[in-house]
Amino acid sequence: MHFLKGHANLDDMKKVYIETYGCQMNVGDTEVVFSILGAAGYERTTDMNVADVIMANTCSVRDNAEQRIWGRLDQFNTQRRERPVVIGILGCMAERLKDKLLDSGKVDIVAGPDSYRRLPELLAAVSDGHPQIDVQLSREETYADINPVRIDSNGVSAFISIMRGCNNVCSYCVVPYTRGAERSRDPRTIVREACDCFSRGYREVTLLGQNVDSYHWTGEGGDVTFAQLLEKVAMISPELRVRFSTSNPQDFSDEVIYTMSAYENICKHIHFPVQSGSNRMLEKMRRRYTREWYLARVKRIRKLIPDCGITTDVIAGFCTETEEDHKQTLSLFEEVGYDTAFMFYYSERPGTFAARHWPDDVDIETKTRRLNEIITLQNRKSLESYRRDIGKRFKVLVEGPSKKNPSELCGRASNNKMCVWPDTAHKAGDYVEVEVLDCTSATLLCRLA
Ligand code: SAH
Ligand code: SF4
Ligand code: F3S
Repeated sequence: MHFLKGHANLDDMKKVYIETYGCQMNVGDTEVVFSILGAAGYERTTDMNVADVIMANTCSVRDNAEQRIWGRLDQFNTQRRERPVVIGILGCMAERLKDKLLDSGKVDIVAGPDSYRRLPELLAAVSDGHPQIDVQLSREETYADINPVRIDSNGVSAFISIMRGCNNVCSYCVVPYTRGAERSRDPRTIVREACDCFSRGYREVTLLGQNVDSYHWTGEGGDVTFAQLLEKVAMISPELRVRFSTSNPQDFSDEVIYTMSAYENICKHIHFPVQSGSNRMLEKMRRRYTREWYLARVKRIRKLIPDCGITTDVIAGFCTETEEDHKQTLSLFEEVGYDTAFMFYYSERPGTFAARHWPDDVDIETKTRRLNEIITLQNRKSLESYRRDIGKRFKVLVEGPSKKNPSELCGRASNNKMCVWPDTAHKAGDYVEVEVLDCTSATLLCRLA
């Protein structure tokens, strides 16, 4: 077994506990970290109370994400009262705050997103009582050769990171600073990882990147675009579903739409973050598209893939946003009719272009009110979207028992909507045909068709 390699005595193995915050890319990174630590003789535990090493893989995208981690750090530190424990911060907050984390006295190890290979070394050094930090970003690191240890997984769907970093400069966003320059991973290692998942019973892989449409590999193995990569993964087996996230509208090509249409197993769902419906805001956000261009892309998707699920991210109350700008966002949401949306109000991130150039000048009451208006509108739109599916039949990949009722199963339709239905005959990993009888604004209530 991978984790036990070279270790005769189980009791000698140091136990590592990691909490993961932020985006799906962090979930994938934690799996890479466990793989690296496993090979170095560490054992994974899900119980913080018995861990020798306690770490958080963190997110900096909004201030409240960081505040949560500071709270957790205090809790981690209470463990030190009982036994020696090494405490580590990984990921984006490590990269952003660097030695400020060590200065807090609450952290022994700070490791940025490109430093995970060095973790065994850092852990060995810290046991001598010296805090360790490595926040060097890399132009090459993709952890391509590392086979992640799948955790917190339903055994059916796996995340595969296809690229790292981001070369965009959206003015509000901290990600380019915490993740560094964009680099694409060798497609052969991606296909190998997806094949490996399939042979171990996984039936769905999600290809992950901050901007998957700008995936581009040149090197050994030729020249590969995102559409071509998508096709390579889709060809592994018709029984393996392929999803991807995130599509940045500015780079989303027709080629990808054609590839999606050509393969039944490429799921018909596009996460298509708009951020704002106002051209003035989009320009200030340094998104490289206009409202009109975005709406034309949505139209094109719907024309070529009529049943495509479309979801989004939006930010309310960005610098100088007026009531008129806000109304433009509401009207865009009305026009597109997303299935679901991740909705946030603007959180100023130190060091970003926006923070360096413009005051965070929309007051919190206004931000909250505008966000709530978007949420209310979107809830109505979600319900409309889910209602439109009543009477339809979908092929669903079973993920497991539904959370609320153990005699029901749950799983997603191709368009990414969650379905639940009474069923004791099937199991996770099966494909079943369901008919939609009813819905809420987040779930399709079905029966076996
Ligand atoms: N790469 C993706 C987004 C990654 S961050 C893209 O380009 O769409 C996920 C989401 O967090 C963003 O889409 C945005 O809506 C939100 N976000 C990023 N920075 C933010 C900030 N400073 N304040 C509030 N929300 C933010
Ligand atoms: Fe951030 Fe923009 Fe890059 Fe997305 S594309 S991660 S929003 S900078
Ligand atoms: Fe957060 Fe970093 Fe992901 S800032 S959203 S964990 S890339």
